Amino acid sequence: MTPIIRIRNLRKSFGKKHVLCGVNLDIMEKSITAIIGQSGTGKSVLFRSIMRMIEPDAGEVWFHDTDLARLPRDEMLRIRSKFGYSFQNAALFDSMSVAENIAFPLREVVGIKNNKEIRKRVEKLLDWIELPGIGKMHPDELSGGMRKRVGIARSLAMEPEILLFDEPTTGLDPVLAETIHALVQRVNRELGITCILITHNIPGAFAISDRIAFLDLGEIVAEGDPKEITRSNHPLVREFLVQSFRELDV
Ligand SMILES: Nc1ncnc2c1ncn2[C@@H]1O[C@H](COP(=O)(O)OP(=O)(O)OP(=O)(O)O)[C@@H](O)[C@H]1O
Ligand SMILES: [Mg+2]
Repeated sequence: MTPIIRIRNLRKSFGKKHVLCGVNLDIMEKSITAIIGQSGTGKSVLFRSIMRMIEPDAGEVWFHDTDLARLPRDEMLRIRSKFGYSFQNAALFDSMSVAENIAFPLREVVGIKNNKEIRKRVEKLLDWIELPGIGKMHPDELSGGMRKRVGIARSLAMEPEILLFDEPTTGLDPVLAETIHALVQRVNRELGITCILITHNIPGAFAISDRIAFLDLGEIVAEGDPKEITRSNHPLVREFLVQSFRELDV
């Protein structure tokens, strides 16, 4: 497998607070990688630093043969369209219908002007997320699970090479969480999109991911396929896994 992203020694501090203290991580092309770790440990900062929504202080983020960390801003904006993202608590535009929400990136990012073509693509995306015919509805009329699916359709509209999901199942019951995980897996398998997922849903992450990376105190302290991670000797990883799988039993 070839890495599509290679993160080297990535650092980010906010004042005296060191959040990323030299992150090293390879993301394999067309794989699903889950990034797990305690709350407040820098997972979202890592995502934002990869895409330069936050400026990293030092280090490299290789995307194919380009170091994103060193790229001029205008070129970065162009490359960012290859990254789809659904951010933690990211909301849909409430004043727009579902169809308009999905049409927005088609118009603004992909640059399609033809309304018929836009309608066709919106319909195809709604079919793909198994919510055909909801284009006229507004976000506040949808369930939490439906909103998440529409958010994913909106990211897919940009035809990204990589999709980053920050907590896609937060606030969903276990059954709905599973349907979102199944959708992430379809995005990966059927569309061949590399997926990176931040999640507190450890059993879910283990079920769908090819690779798991554990972030702690600003560094990746364990990385491997799910089997390798369950065998990790790192004390915090062990404690984290025992806790997470115990919660399943209650
Ligand atoms: N823009 C910012 N300015 C200052 N501090 C920030 C900023 N963004 C994040 N931080 C700090 O960086 C640390 C890591 O935050 P981050 O949101 O990445 O955690 P996380 O691992 O995603 O947590 P959670 O699992 O709860 O979402 C936190 O202490 C947070 O307060
Ligand atoms: Mg976060």
